[in-house]
Amino acid sequence: MNLIKIGIIGGTGIYDPRLLENLQTTVQKTPYGDVSVATGSYQGIEAAFIPRHGARHSLPPHLINYRANIMALKQMGVERILATAAVGSIHYDFKPGHFVLADQFLDFTKSRTNTYYEGGSQGVVHCDMTIPYCSDLRQALSQAGSDLGVTVHNGGVYVCTEGPRFETAAEIQMFKLMGGHIVGMTSVPEVVLARELGMCYANVSLVTNFAAGLVTGMLTHSEVLEVMAESLHQVRAVLMGALPYIAAERPCDCARAVPDMDITK
Ligand code: HPA
Repeated sequence: MNLIKIGIIGGTGIYDPRLLENLQTTVQKTPYGDVSVATGSYQGIEAAFIPRHGARHSLPPHLINYRANIMALKQMGVERILATAAVGSIHYDFKPGHFVLADQFLDFTKSRTNTYYEGGSQGVVHCDMTIPYCSDLRQALSQAGSDLGVTVHNGGVYVCTEGPRFETAAEIQMFKLMGGHIVGMTSVPEVVLARELGMCYANVSLVTNFAAGLVTGMLTHSEVLEVMAESLHQVRAVLMGALPYIAAERPCDCARAVPDMDITK
């Protein structure tokens, strides 16, 4: 099979692989479980697609098989991952409908397996995480956003919570004091696992709401879905518009985050 170098992980609201043409579905067997992956192309650029929450949003954030998903893409030859997410905003300048390309994260997850390296034959590895999100991919996405005239904030601190509940108002105040800009439930460990396998990873967050306590009233998942549905065409356009800006060879050093290790061999 042809190696496919670009992977797209669709978050909340992005379940349909028909952003690509000439679609096919393959099942990748990984040591962590089987993953159904759609493949196709956009303007001659091949890409693989996985809906993170399943085709009908049946998986909550803490039960997603992150290791299987990332390994499936790695096995197919993917080097770069663009991953969408719905997020709440902790920062008043980041408004619903805006895009944020996270450049850092704060990890508040609790129960997730967050590494491929569990000792024994896999070894013990402490992966560099200084700059977890690939700045070259962010540049491509930011360029696509400005071509389209949408508001894209290139950089922001993604606070990853365990979920599936939303946050308390006090938690959001704490995250704000700590320097968080957006809050979601999925970027960790996804970005960590991609980096452990030497892949570039970019987060394309759409702000769907102000986070708990920053506006009055309760927060609902249907509100998140509604805003995502309204911006769906823009999310797709930013993703697809970025593909032609991604250089064939990787200029970044994401491949060297874990020197001399290749768990897939
Ligand atoms: N918190 C956590 N995850 C989210 C939010 C939020 O406010 N909005 C969309 N995903």
